[in-house]
Amino acid sequence: MSDASTPVHVDVHLPADWADEAMSTDIRRAFTGHPKTLPPMWLYDDRGSDLFDAITRLPEYYPTEAERSILGRRAGEIAASTGADTVIELGSGTSDKTRTLLDAFAETGQLRDIVIMDVSEQTLRDAGAMLGERYEHADVHAVVGDFTRHLRHLPKGGTRLIAFLGGTIGNFHVEERRAFLGAIADSLEAGDSLLLGVDLVKRVSRIVDAYHDATGVTEAFIRNVVTVLNREMDADLDADAFDYIPFWDAKEERMDLRLRARMPMSARIERLDLDVEFGEGEELRVEVSTKFRPDRLSEELTDVGFEGLEWFTDHAEDFGLVLARKA
Ligand code: AVJ
Repeated sequence: MSDASTPVHVDVHLPADWADEAMSTDIRRAFTGHPKTLPPMWLYDDRGSDLFDAITRLPEYYPTEAERSILGRRAGEIAASTGADTVIELGSGTSDKTRTLLDAFAETGQLRDIVIMDVSEQTLRDAGAMLGERYEHADVHAVVGDFTRHLRHLPKGGTRLIAFLGGTIGNFHVEERRAFLGAIADSLEAGDSLLLGVDLVKRVSRIVDAYHDATGVTEAFIRNVVTVLNREMDADLDADAFDYIPFWDAKEERMDLRLRARMPMSARIERLDLDVEFGEGEELRVEVSTKFRPDRLSEELTDVGFEGLEWFTDHAEDFGLVLARKA
């Protein structure tokens, strides 16, 4: 897709083996911790990305469509309110939903630079080529990296809007979320903006259904992480020996997606030279997906240095976009 004439600058500031290193560190920590807890980033190999794509099209999975509808109605207002000439998307993936946002910025003539950051270089190249063709008057920069580790690699300058969409902020545990929002604030100048997409607290059955779909796509997505570990870490975990447990943590107001060992088992993670044990019923925590209350999240944003918060929601108030200005 990309060729010499495509005006996309792919910046790889990282050593080629950074992902191997990061994965080894993460997986060692995951399997030596109590309870065993994986970071969700490793769910997204090629198959995981395809499965997530399928999730976004499930009738039960409301967030994608809800966010799209908000962007569709409010992108113009968001563009005007920020005055940004540089739009940065973290964890951009295919940059599909970003187009609605970028179209509004392009329409006002204010868009000069587009920056996308993702862990997958190939995904970035494809998305960058698509964006380069669609927004001829903007420069497209693609930065390979993990937004939890590499924010400092984002280009500086311009009036910036960082977009972090899809509800991915829900993957963070409370303390990590605070640190991450603080790091974003620190990477911005006064007057720059953050646009955050968040899934909202609502009727529990509606939330649970979104992670326990009738066709089992979400279960396949979560189970796929075992396949990723076995392949990348040369491990021998038995995927079939786990049950998929999607449960609603009422106290933390989040979905907590786990794999539970049906029987005691041991496994070998060759690349880490690590033997791991599971007791019967022991769980591997794969992903949390936090649901938010606007008031409380507004407070968190204010605490780390944002002001002038504007909330946008869909008709059903399923999903929210919050726009915040760096003070
Ligand atoms: C991509 C993190 C927003 O939490 O809803 C969907 C991932 N996991 N179904 C979410 C996910 C299972 C999704 N995010």
